[in-house]
Amino acid sequence: MHLCVIGCGNVGLVTGACLAAAGHEVSCVDIDNERIARLNAGIVPIFEPHLDDILASARKGGRISYTADAGEAIRAGDVIFICVGTPPKDSGEADLSAIEHVARQIAEEARSAKLVVEKSTVPAGTGLMLQRALTAYSRGSKNFFRVASNPEFLREGTAVEDFFHPDRIVVGVEDEAAAADLREIYRPILERRFHCPLHNGVCPPGHNAAFLVTTLNSAELIKHAANSFLALKISYANVIADLCEKIGANVEEVTHAMGLDPRIGTQFLRAGLGFGGFGFPKDVQAFIHLAGSVGVDFDILKATERVNKQRIDVFLEKVRKALWVIKGKQVAVLGLAFKAKTDDIRSAPALEVVKRLLEEGAIVHASDPEAIPRTKALLPEVTYHDDPYEALKGADAALVFTESDIFRTLNWERAKSLMARGLVIDGRNLYSPQKMRELGLEYYSFGRE
Ligand SMILES: NC(=O)c1ccc[n+]([C@@H]2O[C@H](COP(=O)([O-])OP(=O)(O)OC[C@H]3O[C@@H](n4cnc5c(N)ncnc54)[C@H](O)[C@@H]3O)[C@@H](O)[C@H]2O)c1
Repeated sequence: MHLCVIGCGNVGLVTGACLAAAGHEVSCVDIDNERIARLNAGIVPIFEPHLDDILASARKGGRISYTADAGEAIRAGDVIFICVGTPPKDSGEADLSAIEHVARQIAEEARSAKLVVEKSTVPAGTGLMLQRALTAYSRGSKNFFRVASNPEFLREGTAVEDFFHPDRIVVGVEDEAAAADLREIYRPILERRFHCPLHNGVCPPGHNAAFLVTTLNSAELIKHAANSFLALKISYANVIADLCEKIGANVEEVTHAMGLDPRIGTQFLRAGLGFGGFGFPKDVQAFIHLAGSVGVDFDILKATERVNKQRIDVFLEKVRKALWVIKGKQVAVLGLAFKAKTDDIRSAPALEVVKRLLEEGAIVHASDPEAIPRTKALLPEVTYHDDPYEALKGADAALVFTESDIFRTLNWERAKSLMARGLVIDGRNLYSPQKMRELGLEYYSFGRE
């Protein structure tokens, strides 16, 4: 089976690269000609650990190709994975115009039967609309389109590992043949019968991924329900942190003990600046909108979103309280991306905080291991440094936004000697308050004394 991947963003590139590494032939297409030209020149347009090596080796082996010609890629693929963006509209509803555009292209360009697989995150009901659009746009042709949903659960920063070693692969189908085709495509991953480029062929023992076959609507719902639940956990931990600050308790002691209950689990119970990125904020909005559109009031998700938006205000309040006047103060921003090991700055809390500090007259110096090139174009007023110690020179305060190792392991004794004032406001609870104070630093974080 030849595979076609439409959309060469984070999900499309990881999908294409990993399925090629698992032995398939993959044609990738994107509407962005420049992106395709860069990929053809061997340049990977995003930062994702291991992705460049896997793409280079797939290219060398002739298993992956890139084109801006949608017709060529669509005709080559027996199975077409749609990986285009589904950003939010102002109303919070998912904007499905790219999906609709792709449906028209597939219907018009296909010359044989295709299995069309949604990998983009879409609201429940989209697959049925996609099926209808493919039929409508292919009027006159005898091509037969089957539609399936295969939601993607990868996390940026560990996307390649997540793709090769998933907890579960969900396929929502209308017919058994589609489920069988998808099982075949994922067979090398399910049976761990491929040379894993991450572990040099010897993967650590782990449980095998579950292959779950559901209806189209269920598969689409699973993705939104999963992401929204994780977002809810983060907001829950953040409210606990606020409570800890008022009452005088330590949020980490509380969430750690909570999480040891297997019904709760320790992950995603970390207090701090809240969630950002391309996934959670828009998926929560889209899920609230979807529920509202069928008369279900998803109040707890509305609260999740509200708590998350307030994190920026809570953080800025800490900055104002510590610095008093913002105007003219020099701040060192440590971390720009929405999380570590990615250059993705979409809905990154750091960017919102920096914009507000600039508006109030702060002088901002920033460092990030991956995201400086992307941020430069958006925030030209900021001075950027590859070396975090350079960003800290002369700073009145250091503001920590991501859990990158380079910040986690920073030598704060050295940093303090470079700063104008030893003030650290930590949006990710990276350091021990006691140790920071022993170093003579004024240190504030979330939910801890
Ligand atoms: N980024 C993640 O971590 C992640 C994880 C799971 C699921 N998802 C979902 O996957 C989808 C894609 O996410 P992403 O982060 O890769 O988005 P992205 O914005 O990085 O990439 C989308 C790509 O699609 C291309 N595109 C848009 N319209 C096109 C068209 N008509 N034809 C061909 N190419 C087109 C764009 O040029 C872009 O390169 C979204 O629905 C997202 O919610 C993302």
